Amino acid sequence: MAVWGAGAVGQLTAHAASLLGADRVIVMDPQEDRLRMAQRHTDAETVDPRHTDIPAELRERTGGRGPDICVEAVGPAWDGRPRSLAERFIGAAERPPAVREAVHACRKGGTVVVLGEFTGHVDAFPLGAVSAKGLRVRGARQHGAGQVPALLERMARDELRTEHLVTHRLPLEEGARGYALFRDRRDGCVRAVFSPDLPPAG
Ligand SMILES: NC(=O)c1ccc[n+]([C@@H]2O[C@H](COP(=O)([O-])OP(=O)(O)OC[C@H]3O[C@@H](n4cnc5c(N)ncnc54)[C@H](O)[C@@H]3O)[C@@H](O)[C@H]2O)c1
Repeated sequence: MAVWGAGAVGQLTAHAASLLGADRVIVMDPQEDRLRMAQRHTDAETVDPRHTDIPAELRERTGGRGPDICVEAVGPAWDGRPRSLAERFIGAAERPPAVREAVHACRKGGTVVVLGEFTGHVDAFPLGAVSAKGLRVRGARQHGAGQVPALLERMARDELRTEHLVTHRLPLEEGARGYALFRDRRDGCVRAVFSPDLPPAG
């Protein structure tokens, strides 16, 4: 299985895949700190896409076939410009570079899973390759409520760890700053957690 993106979503996807018996998991991310985190906290192999032809590398690592399952955990490419609600939901098409790469890398008859948050429609989707390769494409967004008891059991057994994803702990008063750190991925922020027990910054 291959995972695009080593944020919290990609890392937990990789870890869950290993827990559920995937033979081999490969995680890709252009951010070195994210790759290091994935190396430390998952059993996945890691690849830096800045120095690699990803579909070729994945074929090479999978005996020429491509991964059985390709998971996109990146989201739309974004130029940093604020988008209006109309743009987000009905207007300009979003660009899905990692979804495209996943479709091209996946083995024939394999499955592409889109976890990234696409809110509207996308252009330049390689439908021809989906059809020619007989791929299954599916998405999932926070439909996990039913899984919470099983996840808590795994956490209690220490099979599933999430502490390392909390890169920032802040008092409630610093909510706006913490959210901005998370939104802009600044200061190595993966997830900010707010706690009323922490004193406000002096
Ligand atoms: N499906 C769900 O239930 C669910 C839940 C939460 C978040 N999301 C969405 O999932 C996506 C990932 O969430 P996150 O919190 O991990 O985000 P994140 O921004 O922290 O992580 C995304 C990672 O993708 C990497 N990346 C960017 N372009 C790439 C490329 N071409 N190839 C490989 N990696 C690339 C970035 O460097 C980054 O580390 C977002 O779109 C988020 O909105 C989905």
